[in-house]
Amino acid sequence: MRILSGIQPSGRLHLGNYLGMMQPAIQLQDEGEAYYFIADYHSLTTTTDPEALRSYSKDLALDFLACGLDPGKAVFFRQSDVPEVTELAWMLSCVTPMGLLERCHSFKDKTSRGIAASHGLFAYPVLMAADILIYDSDLVPVGQDQKQHLEVTRDIAQKFNDRYGDGLLKLPTPRIRSETAAVPGLDGQKMSKSYGNTIDLFEPEKALRKKIMRIVTDSTPVEAPKDPDGSYIVQLYQLFATAEETAALKDQFRAGGRGYGDFKQILFEKIRDHFAGIRESRLELENQPWKAEEVLHHGAHKARSVARMTMERIRAAVGF
Ligand code: ADP
Ligand code: TRP
Repeated sequence: MRILSGIQPSGRLHLGNYLGMMQPAIQLQDEGEAYYFIADYHSLTTTTDPEALRSYSKDLALDFLACGLDPGKAVFFRQSDVPEVTELAWMLSCVTPMGLLERCHSFKDKTSRGIAASHGLFAYPVLMAADILIYDSDLVPVGQDQKQHLEVTRDIAQKFNDRYGDGLLKLPTPRIRSETAAVPGLDGQKMSKSYGNTIDLFEPEKALRKKIMRIVTDSTPVEAPKDPDGSYIVQLYQLFATAEETAALKDQFRAGGRGYGDFKQILFEKIRDHFAGIRESRLELENQPWKAEEVLHHGAHKARSVARMTMERIRAAVGF
């Protein structure tokens, strides 16, 4: 089974990215042949500063490795090291109806937030389909917001197969973990860097605590019982805690006598401790930058050889 996923280097990694995509992807590396990449071609749709893009890509590589991507198990590479994918994207474009892309939420969301409506942004899902299809991927771990892109990928693959031959491209299946499909941010909306409501993974401890103290709560007084079920504090806590720990926190909410500040402190400690080892690995990797480069170099070689093989088959099928 081949597992594939990518993430754009377009800012700092947050808990939504980690729980929605990175952690599930890393857990899956034991279950098949994993291909994970830094989607830097995709980032050109939003990141316009070359120095920023370089630095985000470098950071993302360190983040992924620190979080547990094992280069002995997974092929890890930069999307732009496999330019064949843009050739496939063009071929897929030629079977993709405009209407299919016009229905995509992500284009509408991004342009409504002021991102320039370039052709690249519009065609984003076609390049994503090429990413997935060029490696004959079976399984694609992502967060809920990528579900529509997976449906588009399957549609495009089916159209391509209808035109050029059954079974030419493999239809992938998304893997969306329900508990972390949409991790809430500080304000309870989906955590996203575009909403400014994120908790970043490698935030310094002081800043992390400050952020957590900003989580929106109601104005129930300290003494009064509190409803755990609507609380974003509990929603975040349960993503890191055991079922027993979560039940105990909920009991404390209901009992009254403790303020939200106390509960935020408990959440802060939980998150800080969860990432302690990961932070340490991140620091080590930062001090040996050639290590990540070596992994990416090796990954690019492997990924490119697979992509080239696929393209031989596809080029012949379309009549080149
Ligand atoms: P952002 O919304 O911050 O721009 P991206 O769109 O770059 O994040 O998402 C990268 C990956 O992280 C995708 O697989 C996406 O589904 C996942 N992801 C992002 N935010 C969340 C969230 N709040 N909950 C779950 N998964 C998320
Ligand atoms: N669109 C994804 C995101 O915004 C990133 C991505 C690009 C991707 N190509 C992919 C994810 C292929 C999975 C498979 O997060």
